Amino acid sequence: MITIYPFGIVGERQVRAFRLSVPGGFCATVLDFGATLQSLTVPGRKGSVDVVCGYDDIEGYLHAGGYQGATVGRFANRIAGARFDLNGKTYSLYANDGRNHLHGGKTGFSHRFWTAEPEDGPEPALRLTLHSPDGEEGYPGNLDVEVVYRLTKECGLSLSYRARTDGDTYLNLTNHSYFNLCGFASGSVLEHTLWADADRYCVPDGELIPTGELRPVDHTPFDFRTAKTLGRDFALTGGGYDHCLVFSDKPSGFCKRLELRAPSGGITMSVFTDQPAVQLYSANFMNDPIPFKGGYPQQFQHAVALETQHMPDSMHHPGFSDCLLKAGEVFLSTTEYRFFIF
Ligand code: BGC
Repeated sequence: MITIYPFGIVGERQVRAFRLSVPGGFCATVLDFGATLQSLTVPGRKGSVDVVCGYDDIEGYLHAGGYQGATVGRFANRIAGARFDLNGKTYSLYANDGRNHLHGGKTGFSHRFWTAEPEDGPEPALRLTLHSPDGEEGYPGNLDVEVVYRLTKECGLSLSYRARTDGDTYLNLTNHSYFNLCGFASGSVLEHTLWADADRYCVPDGELIPTGELRPVDHTPFDFRTAKTLGRDFALTGGGYDHCLVFSDKPSGFCKRLELRAPSGGITMSVFTDQPAVQLYSANFMNDPIPFKGGYPQQFQHAVALETQHMPDSMHHPGFSDCLLKAGEVFLSTTEYRFFIF
């Protein structure tokens, strides 16, 4: 079932919320502003739990940082020096993170209206589309982007992306939801257990730009190949997890890459994706004074973002995954969050 309701005004335009639900209590609310996941309610052992951070009204999405639940583009994470060369030309992007470009720049896909088309049925879905004109935020090529949110029969929320350009460009799309499987208002996430099929990570510099080194995770705090709590090696990370973990080469294609488990039983979330990496971000900067839903204050490490994507700044590092979208080619990608009660 899909219910549509107003969610505030931006400029002169009405923001709409689309609540997708299936029998049993699994439901997702998605906004047509930022193609944002505003809530995700999962039936738990002790009732339904909203497992993502978000705001009760549009003001939070407009004025607080953090990209809560948003679809991030054109390029997720950072591009060093807010510039890149492509086909013999240098493109200057908007620098919104010091001298670097972060999450698409000044406005980004996260702060734009998308055109929404609900598709009701046994697996209710919302198709959101956006046109990004040539030169927007400094990027070349007219780009048409689509993201489809769908509740699947497997108690999953699937996000399928599709994009096409008329001029070569770089593209890196992700969803920026912050999860806490005990409920977004339940405290620290550091007792959650994470498994990640990632054998290397991007070594960051002091500005969180990759140095270019892909280092094996062995004997580092970034080794989640055997599940461990986010808190176990947290003190060794130097300020918290904000690192790109690179998935192992085999298997490839759409497969299970991550598993997040609530402490002492409850909800488990498996993340299936075809993307080559994930930005593991333990909400180290999450302290905006604007509170979350129900007035819950923002606090560091009260949720974790698992942003499946290409590696940050990848166009500047030959060994990194290829995020070039050529004119006329179609970019396709899917990430699915599947929930289990144990
Ligand atoms: C980045 C962080 C950033 C956060 C919010 C994450 O994807 O890795 O460094 O602070 O997004 O912008």
